[in-house]
Amino acid sequence: MSDLGSILLLVLLAFALVGLGWWLLIETEGVYLGRRVVVWLYDLYAGRYDDIKHFRSDYDHLFLAQPIMDDVAPVKSPLVLDVATGTGRLPLALLNHAHFQGRVIGLDLSRRMLAHAAPKLDLVRAPLIWCPAERLPFPDDTFDVVTCLESLEFMERPDAVLDEMARVLRPGGRLVVTNRRTARLMPGKAWQDADLSDVFKQAGMSEVELARWQVDYDLIWARKRGDSPPALARPLAEILRCPCCDEVCLVETVGGWRCDNCGCRVSTGDDGVLELAPLFNPHLANRPKPE
Ligand SMILES: C[S@@+](CC[C@H](N)C(=O)[O-])C[C@H]1O[C@@H](n2cnc3c(N)ncnc32)[C@H](O)[C@@H]1O
Repeated sequence: MSDLGSILLLVLLAFALVGLGWWLLIETEGVYLGRRVVVWLYDLYAGRYDDIKHFRSDYDHLFLAQPIMDDVAPVKSPLVLDVATGTGRLPLALLNHAHFQGRVIGLDLSRRMLAHAAPKLDLVRAPLIWCPAERLPFPDDTFDVVTCLESLEFMERPDAVLDEMARVLRPGGRLVVTNRRTARLMPGKAWQDADLSDVFKQAGMSEVELARWQVDYDLIWARKRGDSPPALARPLAEILRCPCCDEVCLVETVGGWRCDNCGCRVSTGDDGVLELAPLFNPHLANRPKPE
């Protein structure tokens, strides 16, 4: 091969490698490299997340908080779980709603995203938990509403997380999740419109409705089959499972929680975030503390 041919080949190879790196780390936010990479990237960008996203509180009121409050009416104190809450967008929208008197628990696996959420929220009404979406630390049939916004496509197994969210939702409770519209470059990470009804029905949902929302995302509203009385804003101690023994036996102590059943200790960070993740995944215990 001539020198020119070799140079051209090298240039093409370099472009291909840069393209692959861009796709793996930027376009798909590390999802095909595993959960650790996704969380590492969110930890890295947590300080810039709100600036990048330009969330508008009036939109979040109009398209999220108000429809949720309309849906649970006349109940004003629903128990809500926001899975992959990030910097607390959904909890903040609900706390800012004039009639919301409930409790909204925000859960995420990026410790630094939660560190940025904490100062914005009243952590008694909106506790934050560092924990994976794949293992929600609550008993079956617990919440009136479960939400998960702009996150399922970054999970290794979105279907498994959907099942887990359905498990903790009470019969008759409301599920609100997003489905990415611009997921052409993320094979297997978003549902086709035609499959939505079947996917959600398999997860135990009914009344599956799709609402066009943003350029990138549709909102999917569904209801868990069956009926049960509203859960209402129960305190965290009544619903939080111990990450070590799975019993609802955690009691708040100075600087954290202790399990009355197995003695396991869960720490609370200086910012008030409940740190369950290190107990599920020992490697996370050595992660750097939030800035
Ligand atoms: C694009 S952000 C969305 C945050 C928030 N829901 C919002 O609308 O602004 C995606 C979030 O998913 C979280 N996440 C990704 N994989 C997760 C997992 N397996 N368990 C819990 N959270 C996860 C990330 O840490 C990140 O905060």
